[in-house]
Amino acid sequence: MKIIEVKNSLELSNIAAGILIDEIKKKPNLVVCFPTGKTPLGMYNKLVSANKKRKVDFSKIKTFNLDVYYPLPKKNRSSYNYYMFDHLFKKVNIKDRNINFLDSESKNPNKEAIRYESLVRRNPIDIIFLGVGANGHIGFNEPGSKKGSKTRLVNLTKATIERNEKIFKGKIPRKAITMGIKTILSSKKVILLALGKDKTKAITHLINCGDDPEWPVSFLKGHEDLIVIADREALKGSKSLF
Ligand code: GLP
Repeated sequence: MKIIEVKNSLELSNIAAGILIDEIKKKPNLVVCFPTGKTPLGMYNKLVSANKKRKVDFSKIKTFNLDVYYPLPKKNRSSYNYYMFDHLFKKVNIKDRNINFLDSESKNPNKEAIRYESLVRRNPIDIIFLGVGANGHIGFNEPGSKKGSKTRLVNLTKATIERNEKIFKGKIPRKAITMGIKTILSSKKVILLALGKDKTKAITHLINCGDDPEWPVSFLKGHEDLIVIADREALKGSKSLF
């Protein structure tokens, strides 16, 4: 595990976007998986401006997204589809056919999860970016998730629903479909982004503790190419390792 301590969101965004740009230069048809949330917003801004300046070409990359609320119309302004198009996809030269999403409108979410899981297996992810929930969730792998879990329909915890209600337009769904921990760990490179004191407990569990299903983020520790980019606040509990 490599830990990069950053001063603020701007530095985190520059470093994270820089890593992706370098990887795309090495492999133009890179397969990338993106997260949502506040933390990666600055990275998306950097990617948009780099693309405008022709410093990076997205025309050959393939993308996946980690998770979706279920059920939820894709057009809902709080959907992750809306978020990704709004902040990145519609602003860069990515091809629609190369964008992969879980279908939050599917009539059969279990079948949809199996479809997505096998799509990921056929298109191995080169680099996955992750945020982390205050309760240690990654994607929507909530506390109690298994290390061997695959893409599946999950119940959101009360804590996650309450936090997200503040930012959600309309009534927040009680369920989600998320890539599993095993699916995430099958990515060749994992980049975890964390900012602020809300994330201190989760990052402490990742860095200082062993595998703990109550803190799903801790399962990332075993990955052989994991980079944690976090600010001082998020790293506060892990100082003993520096
Ligand atoms: C949601 C997403 C996660 C994300 C988390 C953190 O729960 N499903 O993938 O990591 O939010 O969001 P933020 O970056 O806003 O703290």
